[in-house]
Amino acid sequence: MCGIIGYTGPDKVKNILLEGLAQLEYRGYDSAGIAIAREDGSIYVEKQTGQTANLKAACEQSDADGHCGIGHTRWATHGGVTRLNTHPHRAGKVTLIHNGIIENYHELIEEYQLQDQLVSETDSEVAAALLNRFYDGTNPKEAIKKTVALLEGSFAFCILFEGLTDRIYCIRSVSPLVASSTEHGSLVASDITAVIKYSRKYFVVPEHQLMILYPDHIDLLNEEGIKTEPEILEVNWDVESAQKMGFPHYMMKEIHEQPEAIRKTIAPRLKNGVPSFEDEGMDDSVFASFTNINVVACGTAMYAGMVGKAVIEPIVKIPVTVQIASEFRYSTPLINENTLTIVVSQSGETIDTLAALRLARSCGSKTLAIVNVKGSSIARESDYVLYTHAGPEIAVASTKAYSVQLSAFYLLACKIAMVRGIFDHAQAKDFINNLYQCIDAISGILEQKDQIREAAKCLENAEHAYYIGRGLDYAFSMEGALKLKEISYVHAEAYAAGELKHGTIALIEKNIPVVAFATQDSVYNKTISNIREVKARGAYVLLITKENAEIPAGVCDMHLTVPIENDLFTGLPTVVILQLLAYYTSLSKGLDVDKPRNLAKSVTVE
Ligand code: M6R
Repeated sequence: MCGIIGYTGPDKVKNILLEGLAQLEYRGYDSAGIAIAREDGSIYVEKQTGQTANLKAACEQSDADGHCGIGHTRWATHGGVTRLNTHPHRAGKVTLIHNGIIENYHELIEEYQLQDQLVSETDSEVAAALLNRFYDGTNPKEAIKKTVALLEGSFAFCILFEGLTDRIYCIRSVSPLVASSTEHGSLVASDITAVIKYSRKYFVVPEHQLMILYPDHIDLLNEEGIKTEPEILEVNWDVESAQKMGFPHYMMKEIHEQPEAIRKTIAPRLKNGVPSFEDEGMDDSVFASFTNINVVACGTAMYAGMVGKAVIEPIVKIPVTVQIASEFRYSTPLINENTLTIVVSQSGETIDTLAALRLARSCGSKTLAIVNVKGSSIARESDYVLYTHAGPEIAVASTKAYSVQLSAFYLLACKIAMVRGIFDHAQAKDFINNLYQCIDAISGILEQKDQIREAAKCLENAEHAYYIGRGLDYAFSMEGALKLKEISYVHAEAYAAGELKHGTIALIEKNIPVVAFATQDSVYNKTISNIREVKARGAYVLLITKENAEIPAGVCDMHLTVPIENDLFTGLPTVVILQLLAYYTSLSKGLDVDKPRNLAKSVTVE
């Protein structure tokens, strides 16, 4: 939620900020703004509603520039999408940008009588007003200390003080910030995608430490005011990874990156053809004794957990529960030291998932994070981390991150089964070979794009669509329905195929699209019966099966296949079909595929 960029150094700052915001736009694209410290000590502010291109156009009207500035792209929480609510917010000598939510902002307005000083509806402006109240014109550190001591909620602030033309003050609690000191100045950003052009080395700003960016170095001060040294991290992908590379959209590029991302996630964990996590600090004892698994995550990551459950339970025969992190965090969890909690997150910063992780730890559960972003909060706070190596995922709709999360679950299922004597070496090797076959199967699906585009036509004009399947097919269909909803705005629901007749089938009417999955041999005939039920009521059925399936006459209107024989592994190629269906539907409706309305990539607020 919200993208932040800041730079101070020898170079002109305006373009650095605008380019950084364009890179970070996937974090929020309701409005954007920049503030630049001019050499005369004053601060130039420009802001615009809409995407960062609007801001860029407005900035081109002015030749104001400098060498130190901050920029923000907003995902609205408090107050509508208006120019006044757009960051940066200014109060007297203070100009700031904020990511997060100040939960007690109402109380602060009243207690400090700030009403008359506020022009926006945002919680962020309250922080600016408080800072200004406490700033005596000489001591920014003291003003920041006093302000953050009053704040409840989450925040990442970058602050300019009038007259201090070369430095940026930053502080965070929960909300992410990374920074990098380079030969050409110092940078701060919400995430590394905005920094990578300038440096592959960066650090995660420690929570509650005051960070001051100067042109030639960065100071970090702990709560006692003592300087600390950050842990320097290095990204293992390059700037091209965060660009479209000739694809029309990031989503399409990321769909195509799945074979390679899966390979990169699996290969480094194989020793003698079977999974080993020793290099990641997980020896066999980690997998030997827990009695149940608790998966917590949000959205697509949670749906990956549903597949994880459907893969692990039948093999390992221990209960796996999958919980929505925003529900779990306020529940009374029935977990303890015998539970392994698996936390799944692409960004590693989703606030509900982070809170769920903390709750699980407080219950004594061991925690294992499946995370894509190195050094993210969830990765740092978990007992064990299994990094997925998908590279940066920019499109709001998650694609490759989901596939690598599934791959991680397959690796874990295999490892647990080996450690518990369920799989011998040969069985484990066979399991991994099956997983590898998915990579080729996905490449095969990508070659069928035209056919899938054709199939997507049934969704283009639909108001509603249903995704049905049983067992693992039901797990994939949930992700398929989410993809369609979020980028094409077609109302889509996933149902366990056998559950339809208990209510949902009342919604089926002539020509309503039903995407039906029947890739599981054990329930194939049952699923076909359910498909007949919707077909009999006029549905337009797009059926997805394995290649060798016998399709009874009249059961579907369109048929797509996945080139996988083993039921347990049909999900990876199937989901690529679902991603493409959603992509082409969104495209044909002329929607912004990469930046669907109302959404942001990283959900770092509750
Ligand atoms: O970064 P995370 O994986 O924790 O994000 C969780 C969800 O917000 C995310 O998976 C979301 O549902 C997807 N962008 C949907 O495509």
